[in-house]
Amino acid sequence: MVPMLDLKKEFGEIKTELLDMLTEILGSSHYILGPKVAELEKKIAEYIGVPSAIGVASGTDALHLSIDALDIGEGDEVITTPFTFFATAEAVIYTGATPVFVDIEPDTFNIDPTRIEEKITPKTKAIIPVHLFGHPADMKEIQRIAKKYNLRIIEDCAQAFGAAVHGKKTGSFGDAGCYSFYPSKNLGAYGDGGMITINDINVAEIIKKLRNHGSGGAYRHETIGFNSRLDEIQAGILLIKFKRIDESNSKRRQKAALYTKLLSGKAKCPSEKDGFYHVYHQYTITSPERNAIQSRLKDKGFSSVVYYPIPLHLQDALSYLGYKEGDFPVAERAAKEVLSLPIHPYLEEKTIEEIARVINGC
Ligand SMILES: Cc1ncc(COP(=O)(O)O)c(C=O)c1O
Repeated sequence: MVPMLDLKKEFGEIKTELLDMLTEILGSSHYILGPKVAELEKKIAEYIGVPSAIGVASGTDALHLSIDALDIGEGDEVITTPFTFFATAEAVIYTGATPVFVDIEPDTFNIDPTRIEEKITPKTKAIIPVHLFGHPADMKEIQRIAKKYNLRIIEDCAQAFGAAVHGKKTGSFGDAGCYSFYPSKNLGAYGDGGMITINDINVAEIIKKLRNHGSGGAYRHETIGFNSRLDEIQAGILLIKFKRIDESNSKRRQKAALYTKLLSGKAKCPSEKDGFYHVYHQYTITSPERNAIQSRLKDKGFSSVVYYPIPLHLQDALSYLGYKEGDFPVAERAAKEVLSLPIHPYLEEKTIEEIARVINGC
């Protein structure tokens, strides 16, 4: 079966560098929040264009700690998209706040800014746009709305490392940018990990304490925090992969362009708005014949995945929020029609041609 992603090829390419890095770290006897984490934080802050970046244990924690540090919790509402990975809403709920969903744009699958204002109440404290599949959300409009209503912006950048709008990187627009280093992400570790990019250094200081049991140093605890630290091994691995991230994103874009060129009218290809830099964490097509296309691909030996088959407002765990089918028709339709195809920097042209042929012949 042709996989969605080929991490083995990447490992083969960087093996020597990785093993040297592991030997150095294992021999250093410094395994958590050490010099490699600090170096990665510095490099990522520079790359994204913010004064501070803070390594944490996962993308979910990055969201949770950011919401917490911005003093959002019990009784507050946070606006986000129903078409995302579950963790986006989970992180809001961890803080005691309530996620409030807004439907998505049909072309990018991102939160539709034209529908945000009607959901704002006196309880609304923040907006969490998700740069889904690697295409940035409409940050200009979201920033305009946030400014008008004095709301915080927490960007869920889990799928969008390196994405940008008119050259400005996602993760630099809001109060916090939340990254996941889950192994399958564009910048992925060999375990869990996450990073928060921050514009306000005072908030950064709060997050640094929150990630380490509320401690400002030497067994002094100023607040109740969490154990959410990034370890040196993951940071060392990420430093090696980070050197290649631009090249690897640009290869993803080349593969995506080839799919788009070869796919005929059987399915709608992903779009990229003018001035937006899509990093194709996923290459996601849409078709009313989605299920037939997926089973044909499977018969021919090609993986494909439905991200996401159930929008968050229809998830059992969130039934207490009181949403019903029909509340977010664009997200519901996307859930029925989307299909993500294999995409990664090592995907061969021949494979893309074969996949396109199967889909065009459906
Ligand atoms: C959009 C989105 N948000 C949040 C997360 C959570 O990240 P993690 O798995 O690192 O906790 C993920 C990925 O898994 C994601 O895709």
